[in-house]
Amino acid sequence: MRIFTYSEEETKILGKMLGSFAQKQGIKVIALYGEMGAGKTILTKGIASSFGIEEKDIASSSFVIVSHYPEADFCHIDLYRLDNVKNEDIDLWEYFEVCTCVIEWAQRLSDLPENALKIKIDLVDETTRVFEMEI
Ligand SMILES: Nc1ncnc2c1ncn2[C@@H]1O[C@H](COP(=O)(O)OP(=O)(O)OP(=O)(O)O)[C@@H](O)[C@H]1O
Ligand SMILES: [Mg+2]
Repeated sequence: MRIFTYSEEETKILGKMLGSFAQKQGIKVIALYGEMGAGKTILTKGIASSFGIEEKDIASSSFVIVSHYPEADFCHIDLYRLDNVKNEDIDLWEYFEVCTCVIEWAQRLSDLPENALKIKIDLVDETTRVFEMEI
């Protein structure tokens, strides 16, 4: 499925819908692909809002790899700093079991759980983004 958004706000709304969808479907991993500035963190803010997390609490710093919100059963993972993650190196699967995880730079991960929701984001122009979704 392909969806276009024309502003940051629309991307947050899309994220909120996707977050609710993931919760209802029992999807534990939402893998995000897309270059710098594509909108991965903005979409994550929207997804997180469906878990009751405030936007300002989702950081865009790539220095933190895993931000865990245990009270919301939510996890924001940013693999930008890591070259290539092998499942043995960092036990993300532990998080997949206990919470819903959104992963930025998911291409750095060698393996994903079976029912992961994969979202590829492309820049169309300054304010337009296209989201390609696949399970
Ligand atoms: N339709 C849109 N959806 C999302 N963001 C948009 C849109 N139009 C413009 N933007 C802008 O694009 C930028 C997206 O930034 P964001 O931090 O989400 O990117 P990112 O993919 O997480 O990048 P990085 O790889 O550096 O973490 C923001 O500055 C945002 O305001
Ligand atoms: Mg980001």
